[in-house]
Amino acid sequence: MQIVNKKIILGVTGSISAYKAAELIRLLRKSNFFVQVVMTQSAKEFISPITLQALSGNPVLENMWEPSEGNGMEHINLSRTADLIVIAPASANFMAKLANGMADDLLSNLCLARNCPLLIAPAMNLEMWNNPATQRNLKLLEKDGVLLSGPDIGEQACGEYGLGRLIELEDLMLDIKKYTSNALLKDKKILISAGGTIEKIDPARAITNLSSGLMGIALAEAAYVLGADVTLIKGNCSVNVSKSIKQIEAINHAEMQKVIEKHIQVNDIYISAAAISDYIPKLSGHKLKKDQEALQLELHKSEDILKKIGINKANFIVGFAAESENLVENAKKKLKSKNLDLIVGNLIDDSMNKRDAKTIIISKNGEVIDLDKKNKNLLAFDILSYINDAYSGDKLGEFIGRL
Ligand SMILES: Cc1cc2nc3c(=O)[nH]c(=O)nc-3n(C[C@H](O)[C@H](O)[C@H](O)COP(=O)(O)O)c2cc1C
Repeated sequence: MQIVNKKIILGVTGSISAYKAAELIRLLRKSNFFVQVVMTQSAKEFISPITLQALSGNPVLENMWEPSEGNGMEHINLSRTADLIVIAPASANFMAKLANGMADDLLSNLCLARNCPLLIAPAMNLEMWNNPATQRNLKLLEKDGVLLSGPDIGEQACGEYGLGRLIELEDLMLDIKKYTSNALLKDKKILISAGGTIEKIDPARAITNLSSGLMGIALAEAAYVLGADVTLIKGNCSVNVSKSIKQIEAINHAEMQKVIEKHIQVNDIYISAAAISDYIPKLSGHKLKKDQEALQLELHKSEDILKKIGINKANFIVGFAAESENLVENAKKKLKSKNLDLIVGNLIDDSMNKRDAKTIIISKNGEVIDLDKKNKNLLAFDILSYINDAYSGDKLGEFIGRL
């Protein structure tokens, strides 16, 4: 998704994790957001406004009573031009103020006077988080429509372990993108499979393939950003997935089949981006000895999960074709033989195990769209836009550019 003209007000409050605001600003700028930082007095004890000013490229605001800061009505005006206010980190004290409609500094005033959504990313000691007062405030905030990102469980600055850590910044970024996106896939349930499978030969050895899972994971994260209810079926992947994505692990053909068949009926769209073994070795109960010069493995054809689903289908199915040659011809054949609604094709040398991919998309009625070579994270948004067109019965690409 290309972020164009999106403005974030980043409120930084007095938590030990305020230093992470510096990295968050860097990530926001890298994704093209305009960032206006507003700090509380306590936040300034943890990190210097100069640092945040330099990183955001804008003067940091902190004082309601400073005539030099705008036209004197900043406490109201600031949110008028913002797409989202993000409070990260949000202290327990600031949550309490928000929940009770208090307005005794610039940040709390502009939250109260806002006419844009407000997202908070709490960060505090686990006892502060679990305290009934904080939990009561949280409920009030959620009831008032305030959006929540995190907190995470983990090691805390105080040395304790538990719930209350600031959410990982990459996960917070996904939520910020989600709440500033056009929510193209809102109300859609999407199931995506990603990665390779591992089939055991003996207790110690296995065969697998070179799928990294990058494309499927990029699709899952992009669908999340576009507001879909996403479930990722995760095979053997070489990259991490945001914790915000609902995920189920399925490491071999049998597990993939079980999980896909269990979840497909409750989803509107299934995107099959996983590379699932076509052949499964006969499993030896003991470790094979290396006393022969040549070893022959017995492989059995596995059931074609996508074909089975395509034939009995009740929902919209998107396949992937990774080919060595004759891409259009082979992808069209696969689309037809598996009764798919759409297929995304790529040449293995262009895409497999790579950050970028060059793909084509073919619809059921034979339209072929050539997509530019792109980073898979960006490409995922284009692919989802085409999927949405085809799902909605539109001509492919009719609304491209709307993301
Ligand atoms: C060293 C230190 C670390 C703190 N860390 C946190 C924290 O992580 N989360 C939190 O809610 N409060 C934390 N506090 C307490 C807040 O800074 C305090 O409640 C402050 O009044 C918050 O002000 P603000 O909400 O206006 O920014 C910490 C205080 C100190 C002295």
